[in-house]
Amino acid sequence: MPKNDNINSIIDHKLFTEDDIHKMCVKLGKQLTQDYAGKQPLVVGALKGAVFFLTDLVREMNVKEEIDFLDVSSYGNELESSGKVDLISDLQTDVKNRDVLIVEDIVDTGLTLKYVKDLLKKRGAKSVKCCVLLNKETNRRTDVEIEYYGSKVGNEFVVGYGLDFMNFYRNLRFIGVLKPEVIASLKNN
Ligand code: XMP
Ligand code: MG
Repeated sequence: MPKNDNINSIIDHKLFTEDDIHKMCVKLGKQLTQDYAGKQPLVVGALKGAVFFLTDLVREMNVKEEIDFLDVSSYGNELESSGKVDLISDLQTDVKNRDVLIVEDIVDTGLTLKYVKDLLKKRGAKSVKCCVLLNKETNRRTDVEIEYYGSKVGNEFVVGYGLDFMNFYRNLRFIGVLKPEVIASLKNN
């Protein structure tokens, strides 16, 4: 599949512009600066989708923080959660007694964040909170608490700003909704 040269053929409409996303990062960054004042949180990004959001978010946080990444997968190339979460790549940092902030691009069923939260709590983190850019509430299958989020979204498949379709389109500066026929063509294959 060609990379970004056929973007109009896959995007139905834009949901968030670059400016919308920037405003969400600024707002969340201010809140996190207040809430983590005097602490040295470990900010944990979930690869690969959260990379773009994390780099913008931490630069809006006036806090002495450390950054680490882990890679979890519940999707593969599919559009719906398999319900199974795998830890593909682990943190390098010991989370014992740390205030941990998990950063994710989007929460859908909540299974991924529940898995990561439980794992880091089990390892002895002092606190574990989540900050997600987009909160897709309608598909939630767990009661995982999402302490911070940028915006709610409906049950539509979104791409851009880290979010992918078959691993493409992460580098779009905006977030757009995928055309239904693109999703249908994937389902029929
Ligand atoms: P769960 O269901 O565990 O899933 O909360 C979270 C992960 O699912 C992916 N996801 C999406 N990826 N557009 C995407 O590109 C979407 O609309 C979407 N909805 C869920 C994403 O990888 C997230 O980390
Ligand atoms: Mg993800």
